[in-house]
Amino acid sequence: MPPIVNRYTQLTGIEHPIVQEGLGPFRTPKLAAAVSNAGGLGTVSMPGMPEDIAAGARTFREHIEECAGMTERPFAVNIPVGVDSNGDVLPFTDIYIRTALEARAADPELARRLRVLTTSAGFPGDYIARVKDAGMVHQHKVGSTRQAVKAAEAGVDVVIAAGFEMGGHAPSKAVHSFVLVPSVTEAVDVPVLLTGGARDGRGLAAALSLGAEGVAMGTRFITSTANSDWHPAYIQALLDAQEGDDVAFDGVYGPCRGLRNAASRQLLEETRHDDADPVELTRRKIESMQRAQTEGDTENSLVLTGQVASAIKDLVDVAEFVPRMAAEAAGILHSLAANLPSTVDAS
Ligand SMILES: Cc1cc2nc3c(=O)[nH]c(=O)nc-3n(C[C@H](O)[C@H](O)[C@H](O)COP(=O)(O)O)c2cc1C
Repeated sequence: MPPIVNRYTQLTGIEHPIVQEGLGPFRTPKLAAAVSNAGGLGTVSMPGMPEDIAAGARTFREHIEECAGMTERPFAVNIPVGVDSNGDVLPFTDIYIRTALEARAADPELARRLRVLTTSAGFPGDYIARVKDAGMVHQHKVGSTRQAVKAAEAGVDVVIAAGFEMGGHAPSKAVHSFVLVPSVTEAVDVPVLLTGGARDGRGLAAALSLGAEGVAMGTRFITSTANSDWHPAYIQALLDAQEGDDVAFDGVYGPCRGLRNAASRQLLEETRHDDADPVELTRRKIESMQRAQTEGDTENSLVLTGQVASAIKDLVDVAEFVPRMAAEAAGILHSLAANLPSTVDAS
């Protein structure tokens, strides 16, 4: 019997309520499969927004199939919802969601494993019904209680509450996890995951105490031996990061957290002048992010990371780490309960 069983583990069919969440625009099939094989939920990330979006969709499908070939267990895909200035959903989102649904429709064995679709950034609207009609669990990542209620009312199965300290694209009105997660768990009835700042069983125990039913991590899994697809210099830069080395800059869908370096300083400066062509600037930002991962120039490229990098000093072995993290969280909760006087009534 796994140490923590709850609505989230039962809904998704995983052993431990520990998720490796989307890490786009990067290559993640191996990492996702490793996390799923360890009993958590791995996520295949969207591969970016190339000008030839059909080529992007082919890459995404290859990554999904590659992951399905490496695990028998449930895994997820993450697709940010991009919207234009009129509020219309951008083509890459539509094409990537259709790609995931088509991959499932074409292969029942793959469909058995690709069980969860996570959206983030903009509101997923009509896609919620399409994802659920396809028999998938729909998770949506939000940065506010208002967005959480809107998503739950629209029918998503799981809300991921994204706190200020998270890596990558952070909500525009960033609220700290300690404030956001209890407010979200009070406001919605569906299972909630905490994302931002978790790195071990203590973080999971804290998330459960705040009313969440699991954690979704990025930075902790980037810094793992399973993540051999990323340039070693990227991973080393995260291990070397100290408190205060992270900064939020203007990313692709809003503010984005990464390392304070020459690239983020230059972007902050450029954003201040506000005279760059926005389409061209977005293209350069994505290229810069991808260059950090493929070429490892961690000074002149945008290196996305969560604040928690400053507290991470070693690589973990995912197969060993995921069950240990769940056991550590359960152990903490048991020992705290055991130390309380038995007469306490918490009702
Ligand atoms: C390198 C990097 C890339 C990310 N890309 C995405 C993405 O494509 N979609 C998404 O919803 N979140 C993305 N995120 C956010 C993560 O899914 C996760 O919510 C976040 O890393 C949690 O914070 P943590 O890093 O403190 O664990 C990214 C985060 C990082 C560090």
